[in-house]
Amino acid sequence: MNGPFLAPTLRARRGDQIKVSLQNDLPEATTVHWHGMHLPAAMDGGPHQMISQGHTWRPEWTVDQPAATLWYHPHPHGATADHVYRGVAGMILLDDDESDALALPHEYGVDDIPLIIQDKRFNGDGNLSRDNGGFLDEMIGSNGFGFLGDTILVNGTYGPVFAPDRALNRFRILNASNARFYNLGFTDDRPFHLIATENGLVPGRPVELTRLLIGPGERAEIVVSFTAGEEVTLRSYKQDLGDTQNMLGSDDTFDILRVRAPGALEASVEFTFELGPGNGVPVVPDDATRRDFDLQGHNRINGEKMDMARIDLVIPADGLEVWRVSSSSQPHTFHIHGCTFHVIEIDGAEPSEHLRGPKDTVFIHPDRPVTLAVQFDSHVDPEIPYMYHCHILRHEDNGMMGQFVVVEPGTESSGATTVGAHHH
Ligand code: C2O
Ligand code: CU
Ligand code: CU
Repeated sequence: MNGPFLAPTLRARRGDQIKVSLQNDLPEATTVHWHGMHLPAAMDGGPHQMISQGHTWRPEWTVDQPAATLWYHPHPHGATADHVYRGVAGMILLDDDESDALALPHEYGVDDIPLIIQDKRFNGDGNLSRDNGGFLDEMIGSNGFGFLGDTILVNGTYGPVFAPDRALNRFRILNASNARFYNLGFTDDRPFHLIATENGLVPGRPVELTRLLIGPGERAEIVVSFTAGEEVTLRSYKQDLGDTQNMLGSDDTFDILRVRAPGALEASVEFTFELGPGNGVPVVPDDATRRDFDLQGHNRINGEKMDMARIDLVIPADGLEVWRVSSSSQPHTFHIHGCTFHVIEIDGAEPSEHLRGPKDTVFIHPDRPVTLAVQFDSHVDPEIPYMYHCHILRHEDNGMMGQFVVVEPGTESSGATTVGAHHH
């Protein structure tokens, strides 16, 4: 976490052994969570892996998942919104042989560009404002969405301009905002191609889009072409988030990135519109475990607020489950640690094309329940839980979060029901 704002991009390949040494020089305890990574629960960096002030945490794991754009951010229970807002977050790029073989832009900082989008507020003196001009309190009091900023930063920069070197460019987009959704598109409505979602490449053909809605915690990779000498802007447009949408700033428009192409562009890779088999929707057996999650108000799931000492679910390793997630009033983004999921239904209908890829965070429209096929991983630990939660960070902090442990199949009944009190 060197530097005053945001953190370095980390890069790794499938099969790499990762060892991180994280020294907490902040004046308070925090955690660092590897959002989207498949790894043992003890390395996950959730609220049970607090790093106290002055201490060092050394998680280790082996990367064993397909190429993807992940990210990392603090996850201290009750304070995630504040810690992320103040600038601790970074991107993680995973590569593998399959992604190397594809004809995609992949030169980091040249034609493979991270776009970490955040909304902030600044005081007159140029410092980051945490009081949100009174707006924050109002939001907590009324419905608890939390922070909405009036100033967009991309990679920590205000008013960014991108001067491409090449015609074809890949943007790795991360919505690292506390609560704000973005409905992204170019000012001339040019089409772009979605090639990856949170947990990897879209299988088969990329999805052609002119607008892309991306909620807090979600990622998307797109490729887009520019021509020499042109100017165009990537903008966030008005969006449909349901009845309470104005509370989430859904009528706002923002310029995200101005693109100013020079008079000549270098040749690019020849984009073949073929992404390989990727990670497609799994076939869910009829007897798969089904679970329902209702996101209620601004702080509960199925009637309960997050309790650090309570394990809500015990899940068999490598399980493929069907989770149906609904919202009783507000829009949310739902995130599950330690898994990859696919959207198999939205409000009883087939999901739209842009939801074909592997995900770990998904928008839940208040009127449209989302059904997920959730593929859990093989790391077992009957005592240390992973989290599932809303990624609107104020909701998460308020308690819209639950905990699950992953155990050897057949031992579900011996999984802990309380953290730190496992009985055999
Ligand atoms: Cu990005 Cu549990 O978080
Ligand atoms: Cu996560
Ligand atoms: Cu929420």
